[in-house]
Amino acid sequence: MLKRIVIMGASSGIGMELARLYIARGYRVGLAARRLSLLQQLRELAPDRVEVAAIDVTDVEAPQKLGELVDRLGGMDIYVHSSGVGWQNPVLDPTIELKIASVNVEGFTRCVDWAFGFFSAQGFGHISAISSVAGTRGLGASSAYSASKAYQATYLQALRQLLAIRCLANLYITDIRPGFVSTALLSGGNYPLLMEADAVAREIARAIDRQKTIRIIDWRYRLIMGLWRLIPRPLWERLPIK
Ligand SMILES: NC(=O)c1ccc[n+]([C@@H]2O[C@H](COP(=O)([O-])OP(=O)(O)OC[C@H]3O[C@@H](n4cnc5c(N)ncnc54)[C@H](OP(=O)(O)O)[C@@H]3O)[C@@H](O)[C@H]2O)c1
Repeated sequence: MLKRIVIMGASSGIGMELARLYIARGYRVGLAARRLSLLQQLRELAPDRVEVAAIDVTDVEAPQKLGELVDRLGGMDIYVHSSGVGWQNPVLDPTIELKIASVNVEGFTRCVDWAFGFFSAQGFGHISAISSVAGTRGLGASSAYSASKAYQATYLQALRQLLAIRCLANLYITDIRPGFVSTALLSGGNYPLLMEADAVAREIARAIDRQKTIRIIDWRYRLIMGLWRLIPRPLWERLPIK
């Protein structure tokens, strides 16, 4: 039987490249995001194997819509949560901070919990979510974004412990933490060590294949995050990182 993957946040950036990759691999693919027309364009690549759904993760009905998408797909083996928003916001505009929390914390929790429940009932499955290296430490220019990504990483770790508590041996959870990726989320700014979304998607698929727990992408960011963690807290809080 063909493997079935659902990608939330497939209309753009990393999620869209993952969609292309898994369609090319021959999977049955369920694609979701708010912009249905972009998902329908991806569906044209393999109309007999791709299902699409307009879902807003901040909508309380998102889990029900996800369930309907999975039914149309004929089941689900892998759930990838790539939906997310992010802006720098050093002036702490509350509208921006709360929008980030709504999508990256509330929407993430709603959808990932639904996938966890689905796979628990099924007895097997794999959840992967794209958090970020930004969750490694608090970032003053991006308070809500870095905090939302730390939330995601901690939440995924908590779910892994819950798997152990419930003796669910055939469920896997992979936390993907990329550095800067050239997507709409960065809105064309000037960023160092910028990676292309298709290359990042390939690394993500490899991490899922290997049932990795945490994958920082790429090796340069693995090195930098190792160094970030070594910086003493009082010094970190004085660093003008942007
Ligand atoms: N780009 C980077 O440098 C970078 C680095 C580390 C981590 N990440 C993370 O990677 C993930 C993907 O980001 P990206 O870089 O690929 O950005 P992107 O190109 O802007 O894609 C974001 C995706 O999230 C979806 N989305 C946003 N709000 C949503 C909502 N309310 N409901 C459902 N879907 C929603 C968007 O679809 P619609 O607008 O159609 O709904 C889009 O498909 C994010 O979680 C981001 O934080 C990105």
